[in-house]
Amino acid sequence: MTTKITESPRERVRRAFTEPGEFRTSPLYRALSRTVAGDDALLDLAAGGRPGQYPTFLFFGAVHHLLLTDADAREHPLAAYYPSLLPPGATARPAEEAGPALVDFCARHADALRAVIGTRLVQTNQVQRALGLRFGLAAIAAEIGDRPVHLIEVGTSAGLNLRFDRYGYRLGGRRYGDPDSPVQLVAELHGNGEVPDLDALPRLASVLGVDLHPVDVLDRDDRQWLRALVWPENQDQGLLLAAALDLVAGDPPPILAGDAIDVLPGLAASLPAGEPRVVYHSATRMHVPAERLDAFDAAIASLGDTGPLWWLSVEEAPDPDPREDTSRGGAALRLRGPDGASRDLAVVEGHLRWVETLPVPSPTG
Ligand SMILES: C[S@@+](CC[C@H](N)C(=O)[O-])C[C@H]1O[C@@H](n2cnc3c(N)ncnc32)[C@H](O)[C@@H]1O
Repeated sequence: MTTKITESPRERVRRAFTEPGEFRTSPLYRALSRTVAGDDALLDLAAGGRPGQYPTFLFFGAVHHLLLTDADAREHPLAAYYPSLLPPGATARPAEEAGPALVDFCARHADALRAVIGTRLVQTNQVQRALGLRFGLAAIAAEIGDRPVHLIEVGTSAGLNLRFDRYGYRLGGRRYGDPDSPVQLVAELHGNGEVPDLDALPRLASVLGVDLHPVDVLDRDDRQWLRALVWPENQDQGLLLAAALDLVAGDPPPILAGDAIDVLPGLAASLPAGEPRVVYHSATRMHVPAERLDAFDAAIASLGDTGPLWWLSVEEAPDPDPREDTSRGGAALRLRGPDGASRDLAVVEGHLRWVETLPVPSPTG
């Protein structure tokens, strides 16, 4: 007889906080993750999210949200460890010493934190990921020719990536896009491979976002939640987010509310038959519960039922990783063409702070 051991929610969450590989650029969240991993009350609080939600992002987002939006909460000593809460030029207290303050803060504000964790989704909208979309569109421009494309972003959050054509870009010493835009995206370039001309893009026939729970760029609460999801040290990202939200609020893209699994087949049927379409998703599939991943992939593929589909994504690490030195980490900027063949166009930092080109397209099946 075999005994099936199922992991309790607390232990599953403990695992997430024990090895939080995601917080490379946040010393505070790395230090606080160790505190959470060793505290059952905090783990139980963090375990209260909706299925599929990353407990680390959700928990730290909820704490940051309370600190940013509630003047009383901000009086707590925990605030002194958050660079995002300090006046310009002030230095935050050492991250390594923040643990006891977090434990006390969570005990005092457990109900408010539970309410946020139980209702909000991890909807981080990193406008810098528009660079991944632009890079991918440039790579497929030659294949699409002068035919206009329908662009669909799955997991669009506030739709910031869909306005990629309103931003300026600097990559590897070259400038692209609108040099006068208030949103300027700057990324490092690594590798010796080719960068496509990021100004040679297909024309857009339409743009549309799809999200389980669209974030309203005009809604103050929604904007505050997005701000809270930016890690405390990443002030530059906070400023960029505010600039992008202001820009996009002037002309928000249309967004369809619903689970991609449910809405994409109907959307495919409504697209003009035979016309090219590009679907993009970044940091979205990673939030889909494991048992729904096949259905998610099938729903995306269904967009190709009525016309040629280019499927572009930034989700997981390249596998196999074609680089000699993989120490930088990163995720694959992957393109699957209408013939079903996949290739990795580049490896990119999760927030698109850098792009590493690959010398030879690597087939991924
Ligand atoms: C972490 S955010 C990333 C947002 C954006 N793609 C970016 O790169 O900044 C993930 C988004 O995917 C959405 N999402 C997750 N699962 C989804 C699904 N099955 N269908 C539609 N949207 C989904 C969430 O609501 C959230 O807005």
